[in-house]
Amino acid sequence: MTRHFLRDDDLSPAEQSAVLDLAARMKADRFALRPLAGPRAVAVLFDKPSLRTRLSFDVGIAELGGHPIVVDTQLTHFGRGESLVDAARVLSRYVSAIVLRTFGDDRMTELAEGAGVPVVNGLTDGFHPCQLLADLLTIREHCGGTAGRSLGYVGDAANNMAHSYLLAGATAGMHVRVAGPAGHDPSPAVVERAAEIAAGTGGSVRVLRDPVEAVAGVDVVATDTWTSMGQEDDGRDRLTAFQPYQVNKTLLAGARPDAVVLHCLPAHRGEEITDEVLDGPQSVVFDQAENRLHAQKALLGWLLDQHAAEPGSPTG
Ligand code: CP
Ligand code: NVA
Repeated sequence: MTRHFLRDDDLSPAEQSAVLDLAARMKADRFALRPLAGPRAVAVLFDKPSLRTRLSFDVGIAELGGHPIVVDTQLTHFGRGESLVDAARVLSRYVSAIVLRTFGDDRMTELAEGAGVPVVNGLTDGFHPCQLLADLLTIREHCGGTAGRSLGYVGDAANNMAHSYLLAGATAGMHVRVAGPAGHDPSPAVVERAAEIAAGTGGSVRVLRDPVEAVAGVDVVATDTWTSMGQEDDGRDRLTAFQPYQVNKTLLAGARPDAVVLHCLPAHRGEEITDEVLDGPQSVVFDQAENRLHAQKALLGWLLDQHAAEPGSPTG
């Protein structure tokens, strides 16, 4: 069975920790490891826009000695009905791994179904697991570790980032609280799965309505856009409902005095987060953005190692 990274819980706590250890080593000595030397190619496919994911995978694959092939899928047959299973079968003959950013998680699963090489989720409507590897690396760096640390995520608690904080945070042994307005709660299935993981790691998960309670005394305050890609024209009045969840100086004052602030970017300054906080001394968002590069290099290296060890693997 080829290992994929479609959701945060595709890595066990020990595996997540191993990937983060490798990311720290790769960050400390950026050009030392070249598992893609050959060069072996990696396809990075985008159904949605991107700056950080696109660039960090492109640069990271090159730094690993590989050949990145970054594709806007509007230029392919994806929009003309080519089956993702067929596309994955074809791509698996050319490349060593496939990264996809898309809409529904069913599309990600379909691609993985046809793939004979590892598939990585570069963001779906449901999850953003590569971002969480970067976030956890950043938390390790600024909070001295993840186990036992607390994180309060406020804003759109129904989106990919909220779901990934729940799953990846629980996997890392963190105490994760998420809070959003009514109608923007996380998927009950994801909360249940995160609680199950947390029971084994010493972490915990809580879904709240009150943003003040969500950030009270936490080590990490996190937020994300109130309007995710694909929701721009859904006609919902988000600004009014989300306003109490803005990460501003007043809300942040309820967290630990040395709490750090995360935002995956792009930020809608003045909506989910103020300039004062984003540019302030507690913000670590640019370390977080940099860590996409190191975390994804480590993930690709780790997945390719796993793949090489799989029975019948051409690279094994
Ligand atoms: N954080 C993140 O995934 O950014 P992009 O949408 O620019 O890739
Ligand atoms: N929730 C956001 C994350 C962007 C990186 C979105 O899906 O648009």
